[in-house]
Amino acid sequence: MILYSLILVQALLVLASGNATSTRESAWNGHIAPGSDKPSRFLPYYVPPGTKSYDSSSPFVHYTGTWIDSFSPAYVHNTLRWTESIGSSVSFTFHGTGIEMFGNVDRSHGSSDVFMDGRKVKTVDSWSDYARQQQRIFWDYNLPYGKHTIKVINIGKGHGMMGNSVLDVDAFVVTKGTADEGQTPVNASLALETPSRRTLISPEWTLQQKGVTGVAAMQLAIISPSHAIIFDKVEHNPLTLDGHPAWAALYNLKTHAVKPLTMQSNSFCAGGTFLSNGTFINVGGNPVVSHKTSAADFGDLDGLQAIRIFEPCNSENVDKCDIYENHSRVRMATPRWYPTVVRISDGSAMIIGGSKKGGWNNNATVNNPTIEYWPPKSINGSNGMPIHLPFLVDTLNSNLFPIAFALPDGRMFMAANRDAMIYDWQRNQEQRLPRIPNGVRVTYPMAGTGLLLPLSPQNDYAPEVLLCGGSTIDDQKPGYEISSQDPASSQCSRIALTPKGIAEGWQVEQMPQARMMPDAVLLPTGDIIIINGARTGISGYGNVKDQVGMSNADNPVLTPVLYKPSAPEGQRFSSQGMQSSSIPRLYHSVATLTPNGDIMVAGSNPNLDRSEIKYGTEYRVEWFGPPYMKMKRPVIVGAPGKILFGQTLKFIVNLPASPKGAPDIKVVLMDLGFVTHTVHANSRSVYLVASLLDDGETIEVTGPPSGNIYPPGPGWIFIVVDGVPSTGSEIMVGDGKGPKVDRAALNNMLKKTKVDQYEASKKSKKSKKGKKLHSGSK
Ligand SMILES: *[C@@H]1O[C@H](CO)[C@@H](O)[C@H](O)[C@H]1NC(C)=O
Ligand SMILES: *[C@@H]1O[C@H](CO)[C@@H](O)[C@H](O)[C@H]1NC(C)=O
Ligand SMILES: *[C@@H]1O[C@H](CO)[C@@H](O)[C@H](O)[C@H]1NC(C)=O
Ligand SMILES: *[C@@H]1O[C@H](CO)[C@@H](O)[C@H](O)[C@H]1NC(C)=O
Ligand SMILES: *[C@@H]1O[C@H](CO)[C@@H](O)[C@H](O)[C@H]1NC(C)=O
Ligand SMILES: *[C@@H]1O[C@H](CO)[C@@H](O)[C@H](O)[C@H]1NC(C)=O
Repeated sequence: MILYSLILVQALLVLASGNATSTRESAWNGHIAPGSDKPSRFLPYYVPPGTKSYDSSSPFVHYTGTWIDSFSPAYVHNTLRWTESIGSSVSFTFHGTGIEMFGNVDRSHGSSDVFMDGRKVKTVDSWSDYARQQQRIFWDYNLPYGKHTIKVINIGKGHGMMGNSVLDVDAFVVTKGTADEGQTPVNASLALETPSRRTLISPEWTLQQKGVTGVAAMQLAIISPSHAIIFDKVEHNPLTLDGHPAWAALYNLKTHAVKPLTMQSNSFCAGGTFLSNGTFINVGGNPVVSHKTSAADFGDLDGLQAIRIFEPCNSENVDKCDIYENHSRVRMATPRWYPTVVRISDGSAMIIGGSKKGGWNNNATVNNPTIEYWPPKSINGSNGMPIHLPFLVDTLNSNLFPIAFALPDGRMFMAANRDAMIYDWQRNQEQRLPRIPNGVRVTYPMAGTGLLLPLSPQNDYAPEVLLCGGSTIDDQKPGYEISSQDPASSQCSRIALTPKGIAEGWQVEQMPQARMMPDAVLLPTGDIIIINGARTGISGYGNVKDQVGMSNADNPVLTPVLYKPSAPEGQRFSSQGMQSSSIPRLYHSVATLTPNGDIMVAGSNPNLDRSEIKYGTEYRVEWFGPPYMKMKRPVIVGAPGKILFGQTLKFIVNLPASPKGAPDIKVVLMDLGFVTHTVHANSRSVYLVASLLDDGETIEVTGPPSGNIYPPGPGWIFIVVDGVPSTGSEIMVGDGKGPKVDRAALNNMLKKTKVDQYEASKKSKKSKKGKKLHSGSK
């Protein structure tokens, strides 16, 4: 007790002087909030809309054993209850779907066992080298709706040091949830959406809800056979790191474990890609979240010009994998919120468009109608500086997160708003394409989705692009003239990017349901699953009439639809055999193919900060299993880890017996892409020249002919036998070297541009006008 008090006093002194900082956490403790000269600390305790807080002194919280009351303005409701007696416990019965427990952490604290409804679920350790208050000691947001009891028993033994046996209770926060949200598929909405298909439902597709992401899954990429990387924005996520919420994480696809990542800057609405050496970059974002927008000073850095580096992390043990940022040497020339990033034929990243600060719809004032590259290049003398793109001026307003795909002739397809073009980046020339028919807008905030259809040597890699969903709402309208009930578009527009195809123009088809913010995911079979989104409204939150919670969209589409690009027109869409989800996936949701062959669906967060009212912040993950998941699948027994362009290598396979005699074997090289805001950047399927040798177990596979067909970098090989794919085998395409670095262009860019110029401009404006500006919130 005495020891505890001493440590507490010491810790408070250290905090008061701002010296609880280490270089590692300089962004978190001792951060000086705008408009203040005192170092402040971040307190994870937060009561989102739709939750209820119960203080340690609440009569609903029951204690057994020896507990002591402490009083301090640093505690929730000024009170905290603590024990250092082993075996003392606290229990609390609540109704809802989630529970969090908050308390102090420091060197005097130890471990405790957490029981949920009588079952031990976790041992938590509240020992910490740093003294911090209002920390999230335990959380679970994934409980079935109903009555639960949490019991936490002090077990002491923490870090094996003297005195570390303290357990605190400061507050519990209960996520109330609703009975119909979550656990069982909602029958009624299924019937509403697809009345004619109800009878056709067979158990062929599977749908499982398993795992929680800990940070909202706004951006996602598969980084290895075992992990996905998730980027969110700065907000009150439950996953905590060094005393503050995490806003990036690694998600284990097999165990569903999450590891928080250290990220300095605000990645809100960033883009991303792998480079040719397998390094992943996350690009752009938003300014510092200020207390005005989120009632908290998170201590983040300006992310508008950020390039965040995530080096290859291919082991199942991800302990050492983290994000590197240093804006003084690794950054963009200009601020970009909502940029699209695409890997091009030389293995570097093309960074397209965005706006210069956060806001709602793009406009001429905030537009950044340029392209830049990482590493920087010199094109027609640009010497590392951004290159103007008239297309991004002509497509205002609704042109953020352009849809872009590298084409087999080395040029770049781009769609924004109602328009499309092909960009020759080497010559800086645009070739405009016919306008998307019927006034449909396809980019944020009128977001549709797009894919490059699978490329095949059989037609000399003739590219075809498919755009689905979006809206016909006038993008000059202010938010208050748009409603969350305005219908979305059901149109899919498809064009072959050959001289003949361009002359014929866009071919139009209708999805069975209209969709705003759909995700389109390429399957190894060559089919596409269209999933997520809403039947009405637009992307974003907090902008339009009839918001639901803060959501600009309503009427979630809960049933995916399969699109078969090679089927005859009129027979391409089907939801046969698919189950409906009960989880709305609206703004800030994602879907991706996994190496396993199923579809991971996560996210949905049309909110400024974490919310638990309709439509809240969704941390639950769902897995859609195509029928092939349950069939006997081909197995890749031996595979090379790397393939050069045009190189022929052997894959050893174990093929299921083919009913028809000679099996139909296809080998497809896939980029699973980087998904955010319905843009599936870099998603790609390329059929490879392949033949099965007479031994029946060796397939000779020839790498893609060039970086135009498949930009050099990581990919996945699937062997598809009679329409049934193997799991994906990870492969490096090309020599695995990094993109060429033009030192002169890089140095010129660093010399001529400012670090984090948006924050810098705020400071100078503030000192000039003596007025505090707050960062863009959306
Ligand atoms: C805090 O840190 C600074 C810089 O390291 C040092 O000069 C100062 O004495 C420290 N203050 C306390 C109270 O430890
Ligand atoms: C759906 O509704 C039908 C008929 O109303 C019922 O028999 C079935 O059990 C329901 N299924 C689920 C998953 O609720
Ligand atoms: C960031 O880069 C600058 C310039 O190269 C360097 O001086 C500085 O030490 C770097 N900072 C960190 C934390 O790596
Ligand atoms: C342009 O967008 C910014 C950011 O949303 C906003 O602050 C500004 O008012 C807009 N300007 C016009 C002319 O609409
Ligand atoms: C850029 O340079 C290429 C030759 O390198 C030239 O063909 C092209 O016309 C130039 N484009 C512009 C816009 O200057
Ligand atoms: C890959 O290339 C990029 C860009 O030059 C570089 O930042 C990164 O460190 C490289 N990664 C590896 C693993 O060499």
